[in-house]
Amino acid sequence: MTRRWGIMGTGGIAEAFLAAIHAEGGHVAAVSSASPERAQAFAATHGVEVACAPHAALLEQAEVDVVYVATTNERHHLDAAACIAAGVPALVEKPFAMDATTAGQVLRAAGEAGVFVAEAMWMRLQPAYRRLREEIDAGTIGEPGLVEAAFGVLLDEGPDRRWRSAQLGGGTLLDTGIYPATLAHDVLGTADEVQATGVIGPTGVDLRLGVTAAHPRGTAVWSTSFLEPSGVRAQVSGSEGRLVLGEPFHHSPRLTLVRADGEPEELEVTGHELAYRLEVREVERCLDARRLDSPWLAHEDTLAVLGTLDRIGERVGLRRPPIAPLP
Ligand SMILES: NC(=O)c1ccc[n+]([C@@H]2O[C@H](COP(=O)([O-])OP(=O)(O)OC[C@H]3O[C@@H](n4cnc5c(N)ncnc54)[C@H](OP(=O)(O)O)[C@@H]3O)[C@@H](O)[C@H]2O)c1
Repeated sequence: MTRRWGIMGTGGIAEAFLAAIHAEGGHVAAVSSASPERAQAFAATHGVEVACAPHAALLEQAEVDVVYVATTNERHHLDAAACIAAGVPALVEKPFAMDATTAGQVLRAAGEAGVFVAEAMWMRLQPAYRRLREEIDAGTIGEPGLVEAAFGVLLDEGPDRRWRSAQLGGGTLLDTGIYPATLAHDVLGTADEVQATGVIGPTGVDLRLGVTAAHPRGTAVWSTSFLEPSGVRAQVSGSEGRLVLGEPFHHSPRLTLVRADGEPEELEVTGHELAYRLEVREVERCLDARRLDSPWLAHEDTLAVLGTLDRIGERVGLRRPPIAPLP
């Protein structure tokens, strides 16, 4: 079945995801923006029939089977909740919400309404990442005990850019730190304790964080930064060796096994080039199976990782603007 997708948002990732839907043979029937001009420009550029503003109008003015929410962080929960209220399944960009409490409210609403929803944590669907988890489950590196990661990238410093804007839910924690936090959660279990230090910039968002976390299976040590291009690196070490994800680790083309004796071995990774198409496939698969969640993008993992990020934010004294209440 060819599903009719709606896209909320007109930014860079909305464009990339539209290309993935098309590559998978899907149809993008509508797009929405806060601004009618941006919606119309996006629709004209990409041949989308219906252009809507504001975002909620997409659910009234277009017939769509599923929505991809690619708006800015501070409104993901509002857009997801609007889809759920309209009975339309939604794939919601990361972070699913600004905090775990809000995410919990949206997920509960989805459960009560019987509507599919999932966080677009695409790293979990990437072949190298899946292979890493399979190898750990198979005991290839013995008992995993240490996750080390860095996600440091230099982004445009303009104070209006979403990642530097407190009003738009910016900051390293939710933008890039969510990836090492997710890796540590997936490999070592939900963090029991976190220690963190950080730098809050003049716009009120976190610009650099260093985190050490105790998890049930071991320790995670990671950093995230907009101030230093420290790379997008990760490795998981166990009692018998380590697995190194190639850069960038959240969408890695490579996975290397380094045994305790130092011998490296490249493990096979196929399907890397599919990138966002894997999310389109996963959503379509879940909808075909009439599932309300994706086993790869599980609700409890979304909640647990956001809970850890909340605690890291508290540790570094992060004060965000109030979260817009759900209707
Ligand atoms: N999974 C991934 O790999 C990945 C990668 C990047 C981002 N993301 C997530 O996706 C979400 C959106 O990120 P993005 O990178 O697409 O952000 P972006 O390019 O900065 O766009 C964000 C929003 O900015 C507005 N915008 C776009 N062009 C504009 C312009 N010329 N003037 C004024 N406003 C403009 C749009 O608002 P309207 O919608 O109102 O038009 C757009 O939705 C974020 O939550 C982010 O965390 C995920």
